[in-house]
Amino acid sequence: YLSKVPQGAADKILGIAQAFQRDERADKVNLVVGAYRDGGGSPWVLPTVREAEQRLIARGQNKEYASIVGVPAFLDRALEFAYGPGCTALSEGRVAAVQTLSGTGACRLAADFYARFLPPGTAAYVSEPTWPNHIPIFETAGLEVRKYRYLGADGRFDVEGMLEDIGQAPAGSVFVLHACAHNPTGVDPTAADWKRISDALLAAGQHILVDMAYQGFASGDARRDAAALSLLAEAGHSLALAQSFAKNFGLYGERVGSLSLVCADAAEASRVESQLKLLIRPMYSSPPIHGALLVNEVLSDAALRAQYDDECASMARRISDMRALLVAELSAAGSQRDWSHVTDQIGMFAYTGLTAAQCDALMEEHAVYLTRDGRISMAGVNEQNAGVIAAAIVAVAG
Ligand code: LMR
Repeated sequence: YLSKVPQGAADKILGIAQAFQRDERADKVNLVVGAYRDGGGSPWVLPTVREAEQRLIARGQNKEYASIVGVPAFLDRALEFAYGPGCTALSEGRVAAVQTLSGTGACRLAADFYARFLPPGTAAYVSEPTWPNHIPIFETAGLEVRKYRYLGADGRFDVEGMLEDIGQAPAGSVFVLHACAHNPTGVDPTAADWKRISDALLAAGQHILVDMAYQGFASGDARRDAAALSLLAEAGHSLALAQSFAKNFGLYGERVGSLSLVCADAAEASRVESQLKLLIRPMYSSPPIHGALLVNEVLSDAALRAQYDDECASMARRISDMRALLVAELSAAGSQRDWSHVTDQIGMFAYTGLTAAQCDALMEEHAVYLTRDGRISMAGVNEQNAGVIAAAIVAVAG
């Protein structure tokens, strides 16, 4: 039967990352995957993460299995990091939570949970555009995926369009929201927009899944970046959170995150957790422990935590500096276009507005790799390559 298995399509992000690896040109530039790079273009292991690792080794940390839900101390710290110390649902013990295989694993587990417990035919609504993987995550779990308006033709957040789509969706749909640093657009709702979104979702009786993959990357301040989540959590929504520590702790390959659902009371939270365990056990039994122990170590120690906050802020700052540099280089390279959106956008990505054909030309003719929706990972830009990138963009797009 294997001879009849057809070739699968390449992933819209990771497939291009592979094409970059295969490219033999020495001056190739990787702006594909949302993974932080330092000023020299190298991956950066946060010093606090290194310190936490040393402590685990010094302590002789064993490699025993975690329970099905993961490392309990990590979950406590992770939830407080996301929802904030003042969160009512947390202090009332009514948040059901499990450790997950980073944000993707959290979204997929949420999707499986929805497929099992929401009425058949429930649709998941994702922003137009969204992170491409959101769509197969929900479809693979058996949910229909629909789009809500997000980015207007003027490149700004289309709040009226989104509010209308929330009201028109059948009550009891799942709305997938990006907590901050929207991927791929880098365009976030304002605090006033979030209040309106929250009111509209409540009025329409929708469920919410907040995907928080970039906490700390929007403003450099993890607490501030969770403001929308805190607003939603206090407003009394049917709310779930997919939390990732890949980007903000630089723990990409450790696959550490969480899925949590805000429940009505502790008894409901306990029932929900019991069902999450029934989904996890036959799928991967229990999550990996190393990344969770690292996050727990950093978040449990006040000094390490303070140092971590500085490290996270420095990543956000470098990216913001690179936005300004890239725009300056585009202008120096003679571009006649308005690139101000690149500095207006926040988070790890710039949504350039380049067409798929221009993206293809950038990759084929200039060895500058990006996703074909025109998204570039600003983390891949540095002082050495900004001029080369700008010249290539001007060559294909003017
Ligand atoms: C991205 O959007 O580049 C990241 O979230 C990495 C991924 O898994 O796609």
